[in-house]
Amino acid sequence: MCGIIGYAGKHGAKDILLDGLKRLEYRGYDSAGVALFEGNELRTIRAVGTLDALVRKVGPLDLKGTVGIGHTRWATHGGITEDNAHPHRSSDGKISLVHNGVVENFAAIRTFLLSQGYQFSSETDSEVLANLIAYHYQRDGKSRGKNRFLESVRRALLHVQGTYGIAALCLERPQEMVGARNSSPLVLGIGDGECYLSSDAGGFAARTKDVVFLSDGELVWTNGAEFSLTNLGQERLVAKRQELNWDPIAGERNGYSHFMLKEIFEQPQALENAMRGRFSSDGSTAHFGGLAMTPRELRQVERIVLCACGTAYYACLTAEYFIETMARIPVEVEYASEFRYRNAPMDRHTLVLVVSQSGETLDTLEAMREARRKGFRVLAITNGIGSSIAREADGGIYQHAGPEIGVAATKSFTSQLCILAMLALYLGRLRDMSFDEGVQIVEVLKAIPAQAMEVLLQNEAILHIAERHSRCRDMLFLGRQALFPIALEGALKLKEVSYVHAEGHAAAEMKHGPIALITPDCPAFFLACDDFILGKTVSNIHEIRARGGTIIAVVTRGSNIPNEIVDDPIWIPRAHAVAKPILATIPLQLFACHMGILRGCDVDKPRNLAKSVTVE
Ligand code: AGP
Repeated sequence: MCGIIGYAGKHGAKDILLDGLKRLEYRGYDSAGVALFEGNELRTIRAVGTLDALVRKVGPLDLKGTVGIGHTRWATHGGITEDNAHPHRSSDGKISLVHNGVVENFAAIRTFLLSQGYQFSSETDSEVLANLIAYHYQRDGKSRGKNRFLESVRRALLHVQGTYGIAALCLERPQEMVGARNSSPLVLGIGDGECYLSSDAGGFAARTKDVVFLSDGELVWTNGAEFSLTNLGQERLVAKRQELNWDPIAGERNGYSHFMLKEIFEQPQALENAMRGRFSSDGSTAHFGGLAMTPRELRQVERIVLCACGTAYYACLTAEYFIETMARIPVEVEYASEFRYRNAPMDRHTLVLVVSQSGETLDTLEAMREARRKGFRVLAITNGIGSSIAREADGGIYQHAGPEIGVAATKSFTSQLCILAMLALYLGRLRDMSFDEGVQIVEVLKAIPAQAMEVLLQNEAILHIAERHSRCRDMLFLGRQALFPIALEGALKLKEVSYVHAEGHAAAEMKHGPIALITPDCPAFFLACDDFILGKTVSNIHEIRARGGTIIAVVTRGSNIPNEIVDDPIWIPRAHAVAKPILATIPLQLFACHMGILRGCDVDKPRNLAKSVTVE
């Protein structure tokens, strides 16, 4: 998703903007640009491609301005061209703007503005917004003592349908910057005589941790030395300042070739963090401080709807097995984008739980809002401290997995699985699960970080397997029961970071069609570490081998699977059914990462992908 950075203060804006954009690169983008004041002149420099292309343009320029905005663009409206890159300038030259989101009624506004003599040089909805602000700025003249620039932004946004996070500059107010948000995140950073705006606090966290997260419908004005917070209704608001919990070191690669690889190896620590302080003193259950629901209320829950997107959705599919097994509560798993329009019948004893690493995925945020509009209590599991989803949920659980910079979710996924397993344990102990069973599950969960480290020791072996298959064009991922969603996740990881076409299926479903794809060039990756139905999976392996297919398989050390039927085995330690999905995920992540690197792909910033999808 697009990255926004803005600065108003006493230091040179150029380096601050470029540094901020560098820290937002991981969000995924295809062009970038900055606009900053040089005296009373407003300079705009943009470039298509990587940030280096922009740095090559801006670096040599002796730009001393202390106010500016920057942007990395993930194209929604309009192709990947310099004209479509942000910042956009109004045709009268008075307004410069960067935008994250979608102006849904941009066509009607554009037609109106054309009739008022405004011109356009891009295909974007964002340029329409810049001209709309300029229109109001021009029309409103003296705003009777009010801040004319801020008022023009406010009046423009009243006409906008859609989503936005913006930062804007005004040629006639060279010391000022205005920001606003509706569904696309925007955070204000407060320094000593300077202020920052960003779509992600990571854009300026190395410079200040004193932040204000804007909520929908809010606007912020600043001249660096001071700031004010208002809303579309012109009400003056009291800013809720927070101390950001940010570890700049965690945002570095620390010797790994890629963030994705680093974050795969951070999983034992992330799993420890997910569990830290969350087991009862008698060791028989889990507990969470932020659920905002009493045990008695949780006992009343008779159905759970899980909503998420992408990898988080696969975590929910896995959690269905955890919760239905441990707590015997029926679970429905929904794509957030489908749930929000489906008007699913839900009785009053239904609990809605959303899962989102970023806490900013718009489909998941809107699914949560729809459930709350219907009066349902919504809990959230997220890694995004202070994120939109975290702030709007009725309660929830933070993952504490640390920043996940790689676009492909890795540690956040196994962290979600761990927390969902702990939640299933908690719900189970509120129902029929015995003390002894609870103690056993707690011990199983506590053992996972060490077991994960054992799986990571196979990194070299998995690299060699990837080398043997790096030329393949298609791949099937197959698993049963709680390992079926892990097969789906393995396919997604491979697609995302290596661009190899991959499909995940329930292993038994292979015979109902997908087996037609099997050739020596289409290997099958089995999660063959289930226990009680391993024999069925072995049959599936034979069926594929009989048709010339190659077999890669995650297998349990010491299992009785015949060695000769698996061409490339990857071993995981013998583990409980609750631990297996987490442990079996790690080989898939490593395989995908190595395949992507071997195929020359940028596994940290895969083409067309964004870390947080804040558009619908
Ligand atoms: C995962 O590798 C992808 N990057 C993507 O599917 C992601 O899981 C999805 O966009 C949901 O993101 P969230 O967890 O931040 O809501």
